[in-house]
Amino acid sequence: MSKYLVTGGAGYVGSVVAAHLVEAGHEVTVLDDLSTGFREAVPAGAEFIEGRIQDAAEWLNPSFDAVLHFAAFSQVGESVVNPEKYWSNNVGGTMALLAAMRDADVRTLVFSSTAATYGEPVSTPITETDPTAPTSPYGASKLAVDHMIAGECAAHGLAAVSLRYFNVAGAYGNRGERHDPESHLIPLVLQVALGEREFISVYGDDYPTPDGTCVRDYIHVADLAEAHLLALDAATAGEHLVCNLGNGNGFSVREVVETVRKVTGHPIPEVIAARRGGDPAVLVASAARAHERLGWQPSRADLAGIVADAWAFARRTEHAGE
Ligand SMILES: NC(=O)c1ccc[n+]([C@@H]2O[C@H](COP(=O)([O-])OP(=O)(O)OC[C@H]3O[C@@H](n4cnc5c(N)ncnc54)[C@H](O)[C@@H]3O)[C@@H](O)[C@H]2O)c1
Repeated sequence: MSKYLVTGGAGYVGSVVAAHLVEAGHEVTVLDDLSTGFREAVPAGAEFIEGRIQDAAEWLNPSFDAVLHFAAFSQVGESVVNPEKYWSNNVGGTMALLAAMRDADVRTLVFSSTAATYGEPVSTPITETDPTAPTSPYGASKLAVDHMIAGECAAHGLAAVSLRYFNVAGAYGNRGERHDPESHLIPLVLQVALGEREFISVYGDDYPTPDGTCVRDYIHVADLAEAHLLALDAATAGEHLVCNLGNGNGFSVREVVETVRKVTGHPIPEVIAARRGGDPAVLVASAARAHERLGWQPSRADLAGIVADAWAFARRTEHAGE
């Protein structure tokens, strides 16, 4: 059994990983300021501290074996209009966390990086050696943290793994996506099925893709969680390992909408809107390195299954207040 600090463990991905760690018998402390997270998402069996990563030094001590760092702001659009919020929290907050880890001699880190660090891809599927040229302050803030972590590994012997998630989707029991505002496609389409939204906007149907709509790589949040447990084992002192996490399969916006129709039985009206700036036509991961270095194999790659789990969560959340 090991002892882990999970920052952002009341959020979507962090709470699912915290649940997996508790289920594997580990001791888990969640540090989250609830700025976008939910207290009830923290698994029973984990200790909860309502606090900021900027103050991590108050709680970190040498009894922790590693930190899993999810806490961040992650709204791409908001980062464009309020970039300082992203630099301050994502970069400034992580700087404080790294200093606290150094002081407490906690020498292993798993970090939530993102496909947004790559920006417009030069080729598909994207590998970790491809150029990084983020198109938003959010992506830039995450890339800056990746650079910061690399320096920490080289200079101070940190063992670190940055996991670059593609489109995380699905749910794990009563833990799922509840971003506000929601910007991710599957929960948005499900809002139409729930009657909370009249139609789904499809931003651009003239991309150079088979049906003209954007193609993305959807990865089930439980597959993603398993990669974090493997990353803790793979982390090596002095090395910054960067791994993409995706299924290597692309699904278009139209395919996602059609899948939601099949899963929910709702007709899901769609309205074609103009392209949004900074939306690449295709974002698909090569996860070859995650397979090789982490021994990771996703087992929930079926889009209908991912949507079905997200739908079960959305309906449960809808009825939660009744
Ligand atoms: N969801 C995705 O598709 C996706 C894709 C790529 C990368 N990521 C990254 O994964 C991580 C988790 O994403 P998510 O979708 O679960 O987001 P989320 O908003 O649900 O979770 C983030 C959590 O961090 C907390 N938090 C934010 N700033 C904090 C601070 N200063 N101190 C303490 N807690 C703080 C929030 O309250 C929230 O609970 C983020 O770092 C995000 O950038 C997510």
